[in-house]
Amino acid sequence: LPVFSKSQFSAKEVINKVYQEVKNSEKKLSEQEKGKVADYIPELAAANPEYFAISIANINGGIESIGDFNVPFSIQSISKPFIYGLALKDHQNNSKFSVDDRVGLNATGHAFNSIVSITEKEDHKQNPMVNAGAIQVTSYLKEGAERDKWKHALNYMNSLSDGKAFLGEKVYRSESATNQNNQKIANMLFDFKMIDENPMDALDRYTKACSIMVTTKQLALMGATLANGGLNPVSKKRILSNSQVINILSQMVVSGLYENSGAWWTEVGLPTKSGVAGGLLAVYPHKYAIAVFSPRLDKAGNSVRGQAVIKKISQMYNLHLL
Ligand code: DON
Repeated sequence: LPVFSKSQFSAKEVINKVYQEVKNSEKKLSEQEKGKVADYIPELAAANPEYFAISIANINGGIESIGDFNVPFSIQSISKPFIYGLALKDHQNNSKFSVDDRVGLNATGHAFNSIVSITEKEDHKQNPMVNAGAIQVTSYLKEGAERDKWKHALNYMNSLSDGKAFLGEKVYRSESATNQNNQKIANMLFDFKMIDENPMDALDRYTKACSIMVTTKQLALMGATLANGGLNPVSKKRILSNSQVINILSQMVVSGLYENSGAWWTEVGLPTKSGVAGGLLAVYPHKYAIAVFSPRLDKAGNSVRGQAVIKKISQMYNLHLL
């Protein structure tokens, strides 16, 4: 699997090496530097902090993995760029409705679950990567052939990968019982006329999307579909248009790691998205995608090992897109 065309290493050797290096260099880190498993969703707090997996999937359908790559975890915020893509697709022929105009496309500079960032601007617009923008986006989905927006979303998420993603009932119930902050956000979106449906219905769909269970293998394949301009490299089906993929990857650059996105772009230079269960997905356009899973997070909610892995691979192979 020669995904690294300019090197003597195969993808398998690369991820084996980086996996070991990240584990070894961790020994020098303090407990605080190693990060903490998300604790604001009870089911996530129970995760094994030592889980660690890396998968790399290329645009020819090849996949290599190491570690706990068969362990399903909830996709959490990594659903956001993909669901944004579905909303773009659902409205691609609708000249009267622009998802981008309604949601906004700019960095907020605030945490992913910020309330302040909804009120501080007169137009209340944020972007599809933070909770407020993502709840808006899930509200704009259409029913599709399934006549149910959630089924429509799950089918689409499966079409990006191998069709085996499913709703994690435990994490869905756990988050639903404890998401008072997101309830506040959804109600504010309704008050500001950013969404038209019952805000709790929009939030429920968003929470389900965050509770979709994936492995790093599936996540890497979803990323490879983006790297491949929207064409799933395994099923060979076109899921998104090239221009929709450009919008998705642009938002991953602007806000994929929330308030740390600018520093991440400077250092790493790859569109990347994080989730609080410990997933991290980076896309190297026209080549491959790298998915990492490790539950310990930094203060912004991004996987510590995940960032170490992507940073190392980007620097080793000069992947910075600029
Ligand atoms: O809404 C939430 O808080 C979670 N379902 C998702 C947040 C998340 O993944 C933030 N990312 N790193």
